[in-house]
Amino acid sequence: MPCPELPDLPDLPRGFDFTDPDLLQSRVPHPEFARTRRTAPVWWCAQPAGIAGFADEGYWAVTRHEDVKYVSTHPELFSSNTNTAVIRFNESISRDQIEVQKMIMLNMDPPEHTRVRQIVQRGFTPRAVRSLEDALRTRARAIVAAADAEGGETFDFVTRVAVELPLQAIAELIGVPQEDRSKIFDWSNKMAAYDDPEYAITEEVGAEAALEIVSYAMNLAAARKACPAKDIVSRLVAAEDEGNLSNDEFGFFVILLAVAGNETTRNAISHGMHAFLTHPDQWELYKRERPATAAEEIVRWATPVVSFQRTATQDVELGGQRVKKGDRVGLFYSSANNDPEVFDEPERFDITRDPNPHLGFGGGGPHFCLGKSLAVKEIDLIFHAIADTLPDLRLAGDPRRLRSAWLNGIKELRVTRG
Ligand code: HEM
Repeated sequence: MPCPELPDLPDLPRGFDFTDPDLLQSRVPHPEFARTRRTAPVWWCAQPAGIAGFADEGYWAVTRHEDVKYVSTHPELFSSNTNTAVIRFNESISRDQIEVQKMIMLNMDPPEHTRVRQIVQRGFTPRAVRSLEDALRTRARAIVAAADAEGGETFDFVTRVAVELPLQAIAELIGVPQEDRSKIFDWSNKMAAYDDPEYAITEEVGAEAALEIVSYAMNLAAARKACPAKDIVSRLVAAEDEGNLSNDEFGFFVILLAVAGNETTRNAISHGMHAFLTHPDQWELYKRERPATAAEEIVRWATPVVSFQRTATQDVELGGQRVKKGDRVGLFYSSANNDPEVFDEPERFDITRDPNPHLGFGGGGPHFCLGKSLAVKEIDLIFHAIADTLPDLRLAGDPRRLRSAWLNGIKELRVTRG
């Protein structure tokens, strides 16, 4: 495909790419986002052919809050299905492997998406989340108490605290029996980690783990269908007709939960802890007043999902640019969440920020994060528990960042108690 005319953007070096995993391993490119928002808010980012796994030579980087919302709320113009919502796969991925990803709801368009979403959102009503609250509060307290009891002056906050509640919440939500939880944890971790060479997990091991989760979930669905219990699985699969999920649809839904609900929330918690420890006034304020606005500011500040993508279904004008049918469009939530047109002093971590119309959970529209209220609850519960039990934590080193094309991840955060 010929490269559309490059807007005048003298400040960004040639070849600069907001989805470069090496760049995201070192930092979130906030200065470059700021320049792009100012000078060319919808900017063509050229890529070497095929580097992201797609048969094209780049994507449009959408950097302003307003434009990210526009694309998110117009699925008829911008498809999640054509090239999936993932902005960059490995260079070595085949088109067939990309096509398989379309089995998950994140990568569907209406009307298929509408049908599946209507079914699964039964499990995520505010009532359903409230019904988990007591169990999750107990778990959050137990996680922090265990981190405290394990000893050692200095420890890794990510592995000891941040990873636990998101995994336990998903297991709780879908009613995975206690004895099977360690399997789910192991598979989820393998599936999420293959982008980072440090974990030495090959794509094959990641794919194998995904397959194991799907088949485990399909078996769980079959068992609940035969013998319904009072849990969400039974509700989602009860009778296989228009209003319910088939066993394999349920299998792919569990895969999505394991990815979408796990690393995202873990990273929000890790970034939140880092933000508190580098902004002691905000930590003191939190410990004193526990403002209900804190969790949303943590998500804005962290923006664990840097970007997802859409593909234009027709020629369309966006932020003054002509986007052609078939062009990929990257929604940079990290940039939108720092747009000074919307946020006063976006560079300030302010746990009392209100209103806080951040796009960390998406820009609205049909794919808006299904687990938002669960995630906010988890963040709230874990920081309450930390403030109660480990109020004097201090930073013991710089965070070590994850290598990923679209996640703002921390893989290690050393902290010292009191
Ligand atoms: C801080 C934590 C989280 C963040 C930052 C986050 C972020 C996102 C984003 C950006 C999207 C895409 C929105 C769009 O395309 O418009 C999304 C979708 C989704 N999220 Fe979350 N998420 C989080 C936690 C969770 C949790 C805890 C769950 C469930 C256990 C979950 C389940 C989902 C699902 C199922 C979708 C797909 C929805 C659809 O395609 O209709 N997320 N999330």
